[in-house]
Amino acid sequence: MLTLGIETSCDETAVALYDSSRGLLGHRLYSQVAMHAEYGGVVPELASRDHLRKLLPLTRELLAATDCSRPDVIAYTQGPGLVGALLVGASVAAGLGMGWQVPVIGVHHMEGHLLSPMLEPDAPDFPFLALLVSGGHTLLVDVQSVGRYRLLGQSIDDAVGEAFDKTAKLLGLSYPGGPALARLAEHGVSGRYIFPRPMLDRPGLDFSFSGLKTAVLTAVRKLDAPDEQDRADIARGFEEAVCDTLLRKCERAIDQRGAAALVVAGGVGANARLRAELKGMGQRKGVSLHFPRPEFCTDNAAMIAHVGSLRAGEAQPPPVAAQARARWSLDELAPPSVPRC
Ligand code: KG4
Ligand code: ZN
Repeated sequence: MLTLGIETSCDETAVALYDSSRGLLGHRLYSQVAMHAEYGGVVPELASRDHLRKLLPLTRELLAATDCSRPDVIAYTQGPGLVGALLVGASVAAGLGMGWQVPVIGVHHMEGHLLSPMLEPDAPDFPFLALLVSGGHTLLVDVQSVGRYRLLGQSIDDAVGEAFDKTAKLLGLSYPGGPALARLAEHGVSGRYIFPRPMLDRPGLDFSFSGLKTAVLTAVRKLDAPDEQDRADIARGFEEAVCDTLLRKCERAIDQRGAAALVVAGGVGANARLRAELKGMGQRKGVSLHFPRPEFCTDNAAMIAHVGSLRAGEAQPPPVAAQARARWSLDELAPPSVPRC
C-alpha cells in the first residue's frame, strides 16, 4: 500500500511516498528559509502562499521520479502548526483525494517526529521514551505503542528550538538560528560562560528555557563590543547548558520509568553536540539511543507518509473536508483504529 505524505505545517513544503512493504520510496523538500530570512523569522501569510506555489509541482516531480501514477492513501499534516500553512496542505490533500478517488487522513505533526526513527535501519522496539525537541515543542513522552502516548514533561515557557532561535538572534545570527548557533559554538571555548541549567534543582520532568535566553542577553550586554570569539564562547556556553539540561532530564526519566530505549527527534535532534552527549549517556546507562538521520529530524514529509501508512485504516473516503488544527496535544491521540474504507 502506497501512502503520499504532505507536510506544510511551517516553512518547509515537503512530499514523500511510503510503501508499507518496501519502506520510503522517495521524498522532496522545498525550504522557504531564504524567503523568511530577511524578516528574521517565519511570516505566516508568505508561508501559506509559498506552500500553494510549490506543493503541486513537488508532488508531480516525486510521482514522476518514483514512477507512480497515484498513491493508495494520502496523509497530510493536520496540526499543530500555522493554520494557513496547514490549510494549504489539507486542501491539496482533499482535492487530490477527490481527483484520484483515494482516502485521505490528517496526521499529527509531532507523532510524525515521534515515530521518525522507525524510518531508520535500527528502529526502536516499543515501549520507549521519547525526547521531542523542535521549534514549537519540548516534550518527554512515554511511548507504549503507536497512539499510546503519555506526556511526562514539557517546557513551561519557550521550546528549546525557540530558545536556540532567539539566542541566535541576540548573537546577530540569521534565521533559522539553531544550526547557525551550533556552527558558531564549534569555535567557542568551553567553560568561559557557564549559564544556568534551568529547573534541574526541582523534581519532575518539565523544562524552562526562557531564563537561559535572559542569561545570554545579560552576558552580551556586559561586553562593550563583543568580537567573534566572545560570541562563539557565549554560543558554546548556551549550547552546553541546553544539552546538559536535556541530558539530565532524560536520565531522570529513564531512571523513573526503567526505560531501555530513548528516541530523540525534532529539529534540535539534528544538533551534533546533543546527539553525542545523549549517545554517551546511553552507553553509560545501557540504554539504546535512536535518532532519525539529521534531515529527518527537521520537518519532512517522510515522517507524515510513515504515520499515514500506520494509520491508513482511519483514512476517510473522498470527498473529505480540509481540516487544520493549530493546537493539538499529542496525548489526545489514540491507537490506530480498524479500516473505514
Ligand atoms: O522540527 P522542526 O524542523 O520544526 C518544528 O516542528 O518546529 O524544528 C525546527 C527547530 C528550529 O528552532 C531550529 O533552529 C532547530 O530546530 N534546529 C536546530 C538545529 N537544526 C535545527 N537547533 C540546534 N542545532 C541544530 N543543528
Ligand atoms: Zn516539526
